[in-house]
Amino acid sequence: MARLLKLNVFRYNPQDPKSVPHLQTYVLDETDNMTMFIALNRVREEQDPGLQFDFCCRAGICGSCAMVINGRPSLACHTKTKDLPDEITLLPLPVFKLIGDLSVDTGVWFRAMYDKVESWIHTRKEFDPKALEERMDNAVAEQIYELERCIECGCCVAACGTARLRDDFMGAAALNRVARFVVDPRDTRTDKEYFEIIGNDTGIFGCMGLLACEDVCPKDLPLQNQLGYLRRKMGITALKSLFSRK
Ligand code: SF4
Ligand code: SF4
Ligand code: FES
Repeated sequence: MARLLKLNVFRYNPQDPKSVPHLQTYVLDETDNMTMFIALNRVREEQDPGLQFDFCCRAGICGSCAMVINGRPSLACHTKTKDLPDEITLLPLPVFKLIGDLSVDTGVWFRAMYDKVESWIHTRKEFDPKALEERMDNAVAEQIYELERCIECGCCVAACGTARLRDDFMGAAALNRVARFVVDPRDTRTDKEYFEIIGNDTGIFGCMGLLACEDVCPKDLPLQNQLGYLRRKMGITALKSLFSRK
């Protein structure tokens, strides 16, 4: 027999001075292969057209449907209700600016962090539009491709203890982005230049290393390896500059 699901959904409209944060309960019959995304759409269509949440692709690609599902930051479109108990609590991702109910603005946060880590190829080469594309070693290209799979959903940031404590912390997604440029041979930044950006408490030395970020990443990005790699690299850079001063 189909289960009846009880959804406790966070409701709050920060634009409305009369709105008070609270949980609103909706009851809904579960269907085969139902995802949280389908459940929320049914609630919106059948019970409450004012419910706010984001989605675009329904396929784990756009990253916009991330929310906290029974305490765990996850993608609604990738979460099957059959894997959850019949009472489910849905909260918006913390850290990011709340738009309303389950909808948050991850774009502004990512933009600011990517500006901070200067998330673009730095090269002193003059751009020649007629030049042939430079060849890249296959293994390096694959390594970059692997790190480029981030969909900017914000789950890793929402799960991160440091990001919850300080809003200037770059978070695993931005640090992963830095690691992507470190391995890219077209980027001519030196370790010292990277150190100036991430060699501090808002960057790699603010990371507590407990790896909630990797646990919740829906794309299974190797965040643990990248954070470890950057920590070692920046640690060595700090030691080198200490000894070169003597
Ligand atoms: S390992 Fe670092 S970046 Fe990942 S969740 Fe913990 S503090 Fe945040
Ligand atoms: S690293 Fe993973 S969890 Fe973090 S924003 Fe990218 S895809 Fe989402
Ligand atoms: S709707 Fe695009 S990732 Fe879920």
